[in-house]
Amino acid sequence: MATSTENKIAVHQLIESRWSPRAFTNESVSEEQMETLFEAARWAPSAMNEQPWRFIYATKENREAFDKLFSCLVEGNSWAKNASALFITVAKKNYDFNGKLNSVALHDVGLATGNILLQATDMGLHVHLMGGYDAARAQVVLGIPEGFEPVAMGAVGYAGDPESLPEGLKTRELAPRQRKPLSELAFKGEWNQQ
Ligand SMILES: Cc1cc2nc3c(=O)[nH]c(=O)nc-3n(C[C@H](O)[C@H](O)[C@H](O)COP(=O)(O)O)c2cc1C
Repeated sequence: MATSTENKIAVHQLIESRWSPRAFTNESVSEEQMETLFEAARWAPSAMNEQPWRFIYATKENREAFDKLFSCLVEGNSWAKNASALFITVAKKNYDFNGKLNSVALHDVGLATGNILLQATDMGLHVHLMGGYDAARAQVVLGIPEGFEPVAMGAVGYAGDPESLPEGLKTRELAPRQRKPLSELAFKGEWNQQ
């Protein structure tokens, strides 16, 4: 399992234990579990309470739909075939209430997706998000209507044995997790001030 390189400040265990595997066991993820993930997403905050997030998902039991989602991924994400479910997140581009561009729609889809990740972690599941997919293809094969924009895809399952992966992926799977130092990210009062 991937570990973090440092952990000076304690954070919630759900945040600390979440990570993005490429190896998954072949244990199924149920429709009920998937619904629980999207229920967690449903309660995310959003500008004007617009809830601009939409999700299309398939468990592996629904093989045809799973394969359709899988067909949208780039080759580099072919490890996602090992996942028990796949989903795509979609943003509604304009506000319901005035039809104007929702400039924070992607932000809010990301917030909702964050809820999915933490809920999944709490359920012993892992989600690996992917930006490496063909959005234009997804729009067509998944029937995503105009006014909606594919955002990211996710692979869901139980973390598997890194030994099951080809060498390159195995190395990445076992590499220590790294993050920029907090001093590069959070400033006091003004840019770059500690
Ligand atoms: C929006 C987004 C897109 C990502 N795209 C990919 C991807 O296409 N392929 C992949 O293997 N990982 C992808 N990742 C996973 C990141 O590489 C991973 O989250 C990051 O390296 C940190 O690792 P951790 O999630 O294990 O903490 C993506 C993550 C996010 C949030």
